[in-house]
Amino acid sequence: MLNRLDAQSPDALLALIKLHAADERPDKVDLGVGVYRTGQGATPVFSAIKEAEQALVDTQESKSYLGPEGDMGFVNALMPYIFGDNATMGGRISGMQTPGGTGAVRLALALAQKAGMTRLHMGTPSWPNHKQIIDDLGLTLVPFDHANADGTANLTAVLDAIRSSQPGDGVLLHGCCHNPTGIDYTPDDWAAIGDAIAESGIFPIIDTAYQGLGEGLDEDASGLRSVLAKVPEAFIAYSCDKNFGMYRDRVGAFYIMAGEGEAETLDTAFSNANALARAAWSMPPDHGAAAVRLILRDPKMTQVWTDELDQMRARMRQVRERLAAAGTVGRVDLTPLGAQNGLFSVLPVTKEQVVRLREEHGIYMAGSGRINIAGLTMDNIDKFLTAIAEVTG
Ligand code: LMR
Repeated sequence: MLNRLDAQSPDALLALIKLHAADERPDKVDLGVGVYRTGQGATPVFSAIKEAEQALVDTQESKSYLGPEGDMGFVNALMPYIFGDNATMGGRISGMQTPGGTGAVRLALALAQKAGMTRLHMGTPSWPNHKQIIDDLGLTLVPFDHANADGTANLTAVLDAIRSSQPGDGVLLHGCCHNPTGIDYTPDDWAAIGDAIAESGIFPIIDTAYQGLGEGLDEDASGLRSVLAKVPEAFIAYSCDKNFGMYRDRVGAFYIMAGEGEAETLDTAFSNANALARAAWSMPPDHGAAAVRLILRDPKMTQVWTDELDQMRARMRQVRERLAAAGTVGRVDLTPLGAQNGLFSVLPVTKEQVVRLREEHGIYMAGSGRINIAGLTMDNIDKFLTAIAEVTG
């Protein structure tokens, strides 16, 4: 039976982690997988998480099962951060915990499919795993161009995609810090997108994996909130893996927003999400979500967390400013990177140039030309700029 299987190439991004680890050059630079790094190149556990984990060790009395929805204290504590002051939109939103943002995206797409979605519009490039999940579920991907050549978002393309949609279509949007381009919609863009979604009846699914790493916690949720204020129904996939540094602990959440006065519809949708989760992973891992819940319920720990997030954002902004100030390096115009957001940007480099950067300079980045901004420090940025100039010049 096993002979019937075709070999699959390893996930290119995750394979890069191993390639980088095996490189013995002391000045190698990792701009690959999306983890935050300090100015010293470390990815430390957040101070607030350390404190919360200690509190869990000291006070947790049982590790008995919770249920497919996971830690509802965690799910509810996150809601004001995502949805704002009116966190449940008057009882229209219910959520559940998921294994990371990936679990949330998987659940969102599987539930939308169960509710009749067959085609999903998505701006490309996108996070490669989006397409893998879409393909695995047997949904049809309808791509549109996410970005213009000048490094801004292609509003026309997303509006055309939404307006030309058919019944049974959905649209997947990145809430903030677009992965891989770093190019987010402006508030005016979001307003137009929300109107178009409301008019067309397309089903919106918003993936928010980097809240707080772009312009601020509230600012990064403003696009999502402006869409939700206009549309009857939506799914939201959320990750705490980056903004709480919980990567391998897999901390995510999935939220369903139903129409006004549709409490029964919301309950039914939630029961379907629960059943899908039970069949897929039974219940999500508890530890990370419990730690996040402790932080969000304690104002002092919340402050420690937001301070750390502020520092991360400021460091990435500093790197972006430094890159933008370098202007055109070799054949690469770095200026647009100054206005982009979050961990990532895409450089207009060829696959061959990406290989040369890796082999000749020890600089690791995704084959798409995506770089992790946080992999650059004031110590290695000159080396990076020199290598880009050499390889592309
Ligand atoms: C990334 O895009 O680098 C991260 O989201 C990690 C992942 O799971 O791909």
